[in-house]
Amino acid sequence: MIETLVAQLDPQAPAASEIARAARLIQNGGLVAFPTETVYGLGADALNERAVKRIFEAKGRPADNPLIVHVSSREMLEAVATALSPKTEALAEAFWPGPLALVLNRRSAVAPSVSAGLETVAVRMPANRIALELIEQAGRPVAAPSANASGRPSPTLAAHVLADLGGRIEMILDGGATNIGIESTVLDMTADPPVILRPGWVTPEKLARVIGEVGQARASRQLRRSPGTRHRHYSPRARVVLIEQGSRPFIHSFCTELLKTGGVGFIGHTAVDIDDASFSAARLGNSAADYAASIYSALRELDRLGPLTIVVEAIAENGAGESGEIAAVMERLRRAASEIVRESLLR
Ligand code: TXA
Ligand code: MG
Repeated sequence: MIETLVAQLDPQAPAASEIARAARLIQNGGLVAFPTETVYGLGADALNERAVKRIFEAKGRPADNPLIVHVSSREMLEAVATALSPKTEALAEAFWPGPLALVLNRRSAVAPSVSAGLETVAVRMPANRIALELIEQAGRPVAAPSANASGRPSPTLAAHVLADLGGRIEMILDGGATNIGIESTVLDMTADPPVILRPGWVTPEKLARVIGEVGQARASRQLRRSPGTRHRHYSPRARVVLIEQGSRPFIHSFCTELLKTGGVGFIGHTAVDIDDASFSAARLGNSAADYAASIYSALRELDRLGPLTIVVEAIAENGAGESGEIAAVMERLRRAASEIVRESLLR
């Protein structure tokens, strides 16, 4: 066990002394968790193989799942990736800093574990002042997966990072809640047309406006290119059931029935009032943005109460948000779920 420092920072004006301390830790091979606009990341010097290996140990992450490298400048991008295409240039110009990770050809300076044996490296510039100042001060690219223990939901609060990784990492920069709440879009630029390996807030429609057609990774050959998508993700300890479509009475009786077998947590936009000490609910707004911002912390909160089952309700058809944003959220819900039900199929 090591002592984990937690520094509370103002996201608009982070204390220079704390950023400097965190940057020194990165330079010395330490692990520092920091906020981004998506989720918290667990950072290490991307050029230091020993430091990067510690990320895998701290998270319990399988060695075949590569990491995203975070940069704060054009020079840093060029230090980790080669042969930048016009499409890559256009996307970086349009969406960085922002929630888009680009899979590019790697330079050999990048620590081998970052790429998990692939010839490529995923790179992004985060839209978060604390993250950018940390990377800038450290003066090197920062490899950072989401700062959760492997298999747990991604952290959107510093408290989530502390719960999963306290005693295993040197420092946590607490910049409050992350604003988007789900992980970045991962786009493979080594394929033509580029292929979305993980959906996110930068939607296919937004990408298409800048570079034209993009592909979606469905074929197993493409998914093998993004090893992380093979691993089970975002799972709380309870069994998760996703209701993709169901009326309020249906959800009510579904939860009531489950309560006969054990505790039940409910996460959704429908108001479900069940007067039972073994029932708890987290109400979300019916929009992609509300779901993204709250889903991971709701899963963690309800899971802490130790229910047997967590029932998650999908965003409704009339939910607010771009279709690509709704799809990105729904991908996370399906991944967390071990079972999916639709009222219309049960009648
Ligand atoms: O929003 C985010 O991307 C957050 C914040 C911290 O930046 N990071 C994050 O990292 O979600 P992680 O490690 O949880 O997810 C990285 C994803 C994985 O699915 C991984 O397989 C994929 O990106 N990936 C990384 N490098 C890759 C590569 N070279 N080729 C294909 N996929 C890659
Ligand atoms: Mg992750």
